[in-house]
Amino acid sequence: VPVSRIRNFSIIAHIDHGKSTLADRLLQFTGTVEDRLMKGQFLDNMDLERERGITIKLQAARMKYVAADGETYVLNLIDTPGHVDFSYEVSRSLAACEGALLVVDAAQGVEAQTLANVYLALENNLEIIPVLNKIDLPGADAEACKKEIEDVVGLDTSGAILCSAKEGIGIEDILEAIVARVPAPRDTTKEPFRALIFDSYYDAYRGVIVYFRVMDGEVRVGDTVRFMNSGKEYEIDDLGVMAPNQLPVKALYAGEVGFLSGSIRAVADARVGDTITIAGKRAVTPLPGYEQAVPMVFCGLFPVDADQFPDLRDALEKLQLNDAALKFEPETSSAMGFGFRCGFLGLLHMEIVQERLEREYNLNLIITAPSVVYKVHSADGSVVMVDNPAQLPAAEKRAFIEEPYVRISMITPKDFVGPLMELAQNRRGEFTEMKYITEARCELVYELPLGEVVTDFFDQLKSRTKGYASMEYHLIGYRRNELVRLDLNINGEPCDPLATIVHRDKAYQVGRALTEKLKELIPRQMFKIPIQATIGAKVIASESIAAMRKDVLAKCYGGDISRKKKLLKKQAEGKKRMKSLGKVDVPQEAFMAVLQLE
Ligand code: GTP
Repeated sequence: VPVSRIRNFSIIAHIDHGKSTLADRLLQFTGTVEDRLMKGQFLDNMDLERERGITIKLQAARMKYVAADGETYVLNLIDTPGHVDFSYEVSRSLAACEGALLVVDAAQGVEAQTLANVYLALENNLEIIPVLNKIDLPGADAEACKKEIEDVVGLDTSGAILCSAKEGIGIEDILEAIVARVPAPRDTTKEPFRALIFDSYYDAYRGVIVYFRVMDGEVRVGDTVRFMNSGKEYEIDDLGVMAPNQLPVKALYAGEVGFLSGSIRAVADARVGDTITIAGKRAVTPLPGYEQAVPMVFCGLFPVDADQFPDLRDALEKLQLNDAALKFEPETSSAMGFGFRCGFLGLLHMEIVQERLEREYNLNLIITAPSVVYKVHSADGSVVMVDNPAQLPAAEKRAFIEEPYVRISMITPKDFVGPLMELAQNRRGEFTEMKYITEARCELVYELPLGEVVTDFFDQLKSRTKGYASMEYHLIGYRRNELVRLDLNINGEPCDPLATIVHRDKAYQVGRALTEKLKELIPRQMFKIPIQATIGAKVIASESIAAMRKDVLAKCYGGDISRKKKLLKKQAEGKKRMKSLGKVDVPQEAFMAVLQLE
């Protein structure tokens, strides 16, 4: 079809507002996917995603739609991941589009992620079509929801579409609105080839598959392409469109969305946001918006069994082929032996990687508590970035420390404003503003240290608001604070994986809570185990675990044998996740104790 009949769009929404369900309906209505092949949520095709019910990887689908005007249009739906860790990927997907459906659950209203996504869409100058979903629900209030969108987001909602993705209501209206309101791509076929990568993944047989939007010019099978930011060049073996399964084509032109492959070794060579050009042709400027992946959260990964160290390295290398944001380097700890210090975009990214290492690579790991990256200034003016609390230089060697700050937006029913303010203040938050969205709900904005968010902030937010509040945050820079390193000694031995960086004013409180928690989490042994929290040479809190008196099985005397077996089995399972620090067996949970202090 001519470029005037192409429409490229995304769906943006808060989690659970119905993005995937709507995408499925669009694919079905346009006959892109046959009904009998429709397995729930076609676009999220990774198992992990399906299980967690969240979208973490982008995909795309091409639909053909015969509109009311009798013409056939090509509609390219570009999916976006639904989590703050991946907002860079979201912004690149949006940059590949001219329009976006803004899906809002009409029973819930505007949530934190709705706002964050709308701002990204506006930055990319997209035509935004508001869609009020779930109007089949008795609690749905489309008018109130429109008013929220107008007041908070400032969008005109006179053309908003009422929809029930579940019941298939409003689907045709949405397709017509896309055709009528989303601008066609500019026809720049005559210009030199430039394409924007909005997704790429590693395939063991074909190498990296790159998803892209042709911004200018044309590209053909056999062309040698150059990825401008990585500087890598490859010859295209396969070129095609996602219909939604990969369908080969000979060439792709300005405005079109497609994929290519060409024995590309690793995703880092063809990363999201990079610009594809034809090698050796006239130079072009790269498309704007490319950013380096910067890991924000770090943790240590140690195999329970030291023999698994080489397997862990292999697994991390394999995952990295498919994940340009994953960083790792070897870490040796006197307490833990050999492992890796790994960097992630955020907590969800960290959890996904950990889960894969354990599930797909059968590794048994001890994972240390997440840390952010500190800027440590020394007296001579030099600065080092420290992502591991155990490596924070001693107090006399440093002048001051800066830590990363985020601006966090929380949207909550007004009854929970008090508990949320208390939470933010406990986490060293500085109040920025409070806005009423409606009479019943408001947005609270705070600035606070990222280190206080990557613990259990989200869980606390949910539990303090019975699940009703939502949140979203972004980095705003580094700030200087009075920070100290809190060390832990177990049985007289320093235990560096438990070291943590805290604000001076909270150090005593955290020290006490941490020693108490460890006392609870570390199983008794045959001897008494002292636990101490220290700052420098000073002990600020101490506890001790009493020696075990009897064998565990003593409890079963006279009891039945199956119970005894069960107990032994349970013990054996518990053992798997233990690391011996000196003479003491420390369970996995103890390494995360700092996250469970509230
Ligand atoms: P993430 O992938 O986690 O971002 O969620 P999502 O926005 O893709 O939401 P999803 O499509 O998974 O829908 C979330 C839940 O809402 C599911 O249980 C859907 O069945 C339900 N749902 C989606 N659309 C409708 C609707 O129109 N009406 C009703 N009643 N439920 C809906």
